[in-house]
Amino acid sequence: MTSVAVVTGASSGIGAATARRLAAEGFHVLAAARRTDRLADLVAEIAAAGGSATAVACDVTSDDSVAGLAAAAAAAPGPVTLLVNNAGGARGMDPVETGSVGDWQWMYDVNVLGTLRVTQALLPALEASGAGTIVIVSSTAGFTVYEGGGGYTAAKHAQTAVAGTLRLELCGRPVRVVEIDPGMVKTDEFSLVRFDGDADRAAAVYAGVPDPLVADDVADCVAWCATRPHHVNVDRLVVRPLAQAAQHKVHRVG
Ligand SMILES: NC(=O)c1ccc[n+]([C@@H]2O[C@H](COP(=O)([O-])OP(=O)(O)OC[C@H]3O[C@@H](n4cnc5c(N)ncnc54)[C@H](OP(=O)(O)O)[C@@H]3O)[C@@H](O)[C@H]2O)c1
Repeated sequence: MTSVAVVTGASSGIGAATARRLAAEGFHVLAAARRTDRLADLVAEIAAAGGSATAVACDVTSDDSVAGLAAAAAAAPGPVTLLVNNAGGARGMDPVETGSVGDWQWMYDVNVLGTLRVTQALLPALEASGAGTIVIVSSTAGFTVYEGGGGYTAAKHAQTAVAGTLRLELCGRPVRVVEIDPGMVKTDEFSLVRFDGDADRAAAVYAGVPDPLVADDVADCVAWCATRPHHVNVDRLVVRPLAQAAQHKVHRVG
């Protein structure tokens, strides 16, 4: 029977690439996000490539909406073996001194509580499958801090703490917990969202970096972790572009 993978934040960037890749690996993918027009295009693209996927409107900041995602998972054509908690993002680059409480709340709600809500809702199905995997897409911001990144790094540190705690709590049960921590990934929207649509500021993040990671690179990491034999738990996978030795050490040309 086809295994089902749920991917949150599947309407763009890493989530969309992960949905495509998991469908190519043979999963039926539940592609979840708020922008259903984009999800419809993605599902059609996956079908045209010979895969199968279903679009599910889901706002991970809403309990009711996440309950709808769990209902869609229950109706899916196979056991739910994989959850990829990918929905998330950053807002702002202000110092702690002047950071917007609203931006911090948004980041905490989407990255941390979103992961909590979706994980709680899908854990029974993942466990019932007998071979469940929860992937949490946190960030290198989950273990390091940088100036102007206080709200995002606080949220990602918290998301990382959730991953570690959950792995301890699920020990002895058939659900593994994998954390993936990407460094700089050039996706279309991440920096645009962070800088409130300011395309110049967004482009400056990647300026001169020879080869930042792209969404497919992270999707590849997700797929590799998820397709290891189930007794193999990749606790944490840190992945950066070659040009980024550390958060503060980025090689740029020109
Ligand atoms: N790009 C990077 O450099 C980088 C590095 C490390 C980690 N990450 C992490 O990787 C993940 C994906 O990032 P990305 O670069 O692919 O960013 P992105 O293109 O901006 O994608 C973010 C996704 O999250 C979804 N989302 C946002 N709010 C949501 C909500 N309330 N409910 C459901 N979905 C929501 C968005 O869909 P809708 O707007 O349609 O809902 C979108 O599909 C994030 O967790 C990010 O923190 C990114």
